Amino acid sequence: MNKNIRTLIQALAENHSLTLDEYEALITARDQEAADLLAQLARTAREAVYGREVYTRGLIEISNICKNDCLYCGIRGSNANCDRYRLTPEDILACCQEGYALDFRTFVLQGGEDGYFTDQVLCPLIREIKARWPDCAVTLSLGERSRESYQRLFDAGADRYLLRHETADEAHYRSLHPPAMSFARRMECLRDLKEIGYQVGCGFMVGSPGQTPKTLAKDLKFIEEFQPDMCGIGPFIPHRDTPFRDCPPGDVALTCYLLSIIRLISPAILLPATTALGTIHPTGREMGVRAGANVVMPNLSPVAVRKKYALYDNKICTGEESAQCRGCLSARMESVGYSLVTHRGDIKKI
Ligand code: SAM
Ligand code: FES
Repeated sequence: MNKNIRTLIQALAENHSLTLDEYEALITARDQEAADLLAQLARTAREAVYGREVYTRGLIEISNICKNDCLYCGIRGSNANCDRYRLTPEDILACCQEGYALDFRTFVLQGGEDGYFTDQVLCPLIREIKARWPDCAVTLSLGERSRESYQRLFDAGADRYLLRHETADEAHYRSLHPPAMSFARRMECLRDLKEIGYQVGCGFMVGSPGQTPKTLAKDLKFIEEFQPDMCGIGPFIPHRDTPFRDCPPGDVALTCYLLSIIRLISPAILLPATTALGTIHPTGREMGVRAGANVVMPNLSPVAVRKKYALYDNKICTGEESAQCRGCLSARMESVGYSLVTHRGDIKKI
């Protein structure tokens, strides 16, 4: 690591900000020494806010039916090989019940953009979850909707919304999505969600086709400026039925490097060690937590549908019972000196 990079890392830890060019230089100059220093500073920053607690969310994959056609995604609308399913509101409530008994206090309802899940279906469901388990948070991750819809879901009790921005570079965004989707619309959704009052998560894949240090620098600058409450980053992993089937997967070390940088940009941010990270490396999630992540999202979906929510090939945790998933992650976190906690796990304002 040269002296300039050390200076940049120290400046980032102190000021939580770099210029676009500096972010790019930090990414381009990545080596083991820089990664170790970033991870050490990221752990210190995270532990000052959250100690050694890791927050946990129960992920319920409510539908793999999607009208979109994102080029990277295994459940894209045009994938005729995808075996489609949709959970009923009763199925989803049963997942929450099981999750509550397993100490989850946040439920994440994630799915493709499935026209069945109108506000008329979702609002009563959200109200029911909040009525039955008032000490739980509800996070939605259901893609792009109108501002009015986001408002109705918020008024029904939803607390948080995850909508990855995918890339902060407009041309790169176009290369990852069909013409019907736009960068401007994605950004508008994120702004709407924030203005409405959700705790908002953005994020991106590491190693998506066409990504460069320049586009990554824009992602980091966007995170610095948008100040999300959460940021989901995980490696891109190809899916055999998508146009990106032959593209190489993202890199575990680069993902951890970026997790550390994001922790230093925003010390209190909620940063998951994702399932995708655990998929490309057997201890990827432990490595993510040691790099600065502080959230894990075990799967609470019914075992019968898990394999069908195949965003990418070889996804882990598709055969386990929910209790096993929670137990496995708890043991993994303990193995690196962290522990899962039983509460909603809201962002701490510092
Ligand atoms: N439909 C919602 C949306 O678009 O936000 C939520 C579901 S979508 C499948 C959730 C995330 O999965 C996407 O934001 C994307 O970053 C990630 N994803 C999709 N395909 C992936 C792949 N091949 N590798 C890694 N992550 C992927
Ligand atoms: Fe819709 Fe992936 S294309 S969830």
